[in-house]
Amino acid sequence: MKLKFLTVFALGALLISCGGEKAKEDVAKTPVKEEIKTEVKTEVVKIDPMTDKGVGPIKTLTLGDIDDSLVAIGHEVYKVKCTACHKISKRFVGPGLKGVTERRTPEWIMNMILNPELMVKENETAKQLLIEYSAPMANQSLTEEEARAILEYLRTKN
Ligand code: HEC
Repeated sequence: MKLKFLTVFALGALLISCGGEKAKEDVAKTPVKEEIKTEVKTEVVKIDPMTDKGVGPIKTLTLGDIDDSLVAIGHEVYKVKCTACHKISKRFVGPGLKGVTERRTPEWIMNMILNPELMVKENETAKQLLIEYSAPMANQSLTEEEARAILEYLRTKN
């Protein structure tokens, strides 16, 4: 009688331990969170900035020879309205503006000055700049004439 009881007990113990092994295996099969891979898609949009006129009031603009009196007016407006965020030769809150007239069309520059909110929303080049600088370009509420004068000043900074 005593022997029979022991056998049953031993068998029971064996069963329990087998169950335990199985549970361990199941845990091992469960995928660890870090192993779940999520695919991140980054889209690279190719644009030619020298054909890009941007979005805003300026559709076409033909430049002539540099007009020195316009440069002088532009320099004055620039000093008051732009130097809080821009330097000519190096990055500040916004990009350094040296050579900007060689990397952007005149229309794009004027539209960026006059209509920055829409530019950073809809224009690929401006969108990418916003990502890079993580600060929005401020609308300085300039007139078209003031923006045009600043453009003339920037033409002398190449
Ligand atoms: C409050 C800060 C701020 C002020 C003020 C500001 N800008 Fe900007 N500007 C930026 C930032 C930041 C960018 C980069 C684009 C973005 O993040 O929206 C930028 C971008 C630009 C660009 C494009 C540069 C490139 O490399 O293509 C031009 C041109 C520009 N600004 C001209 C001006 C002019 C001209 C003024 C003055 C009328 C001015 N900005 C005033 C912050 C400013």
